[in-house]
Amino acid sequence: MTMESKSKWAIQIEGLNYAFGDAEARKQVLYDIDLEVESGEFIILTGPSGSGKTTLLSLSGALRRPQSGKLLSLGRSLGDLDDSGLEVYRREVGFIFQLHNLFPALTAFESVKMATDLRPDLSGVAEDRITDLLTRLGLGERLHYKPAKLSGGQRQRVAIARALVHEPRLILADEPTAALDAQNTTIVLEMLRERAHANGTSIMMVTQDNRVFEEADRLIELVDGRLVSDRQTRLD
Ligand SMILES: Nc1ncnc2c1ncn2[C@@H]1O[C@H](COP(=O)(O)OP(=O)(O)OP(=O)(O)O)[C@@H](O)[C@H]1O
Ligand SMILES: [Mg+2]
Repeated sequence: MTMESKSKWAIQIEGLNYAFGDAEARKQVLYDIDLEVESGEFIILTGPSGSGKTTLLSLSGALRRPQSGKLLSLGRSLGDLDDSGLEVYRREVGFIFQLHNLFPALTAFESVKMATDLRPDLSGVAEDRITDLLTRLGLGERLHYKPAKLSGGQRQRVAIARALVHEPRLILADEPTAALDAQNTTIVLEMLRERAHANGTSIMMVTQDNRVFEEADRLIELVDGRLVSDRQTRLD
């Protein structure tokens, strides 16, 4: 046995509760969540608007502090990390959020390049890799366009490339395909699946689109802050 043997679990959540606000304004939005995500597993999280999906994703990405319960991710207890620990953890995660906040002054290529420049350990990432990734996402002709000259779906794909370029161990994606047409949705889902199954990347993706449910390994449903169903979707 090696010291570095990889854990079977990417995420282990037990008895997780979460509330916004204090005292009279307190509103609980997650109730007693138990969830384990394996390394290399692709999970879709669905449920009605307001059911707590984004909150659960933000907690898993350490963008919010857990208040009670156990939340382990990539071998760390997220509630116990100090600021520098949180920073290191977040660098291992690829975030794709709906508000993708591209820098207006940067072209598609520069946006993705910047994601690697922020990481000293990735300074050697070949520019070819960035071009290949954007080209696979159908942006080969628009590498040097700024966001103002891109459609919503094209911007969304730049944000996806930016989240994937550093090969994160965990991808947290909130409605990543909402602005995409069928063809680009297929490309993005294939890319995510390939990462999970070939690279062992774990993926938690929020979607309301029931046409893509079967593309993941597992489907989880939240209703009113409670996990009401959890089932395998693929048998291969
Ligand atoms: N920053 C906040 N402050 C107070 N309440 C919040 C905050 N963010 C979310 N909420 C509340 O928490 C509940 C869960 O919100 P969340 O964003 O997690 O839902 P969701 O499942 O992602 O919904 P949607 O599908 O509409 O994105 C909602 O009732 C929402 O009003
Ligand atoms: Mg949401």
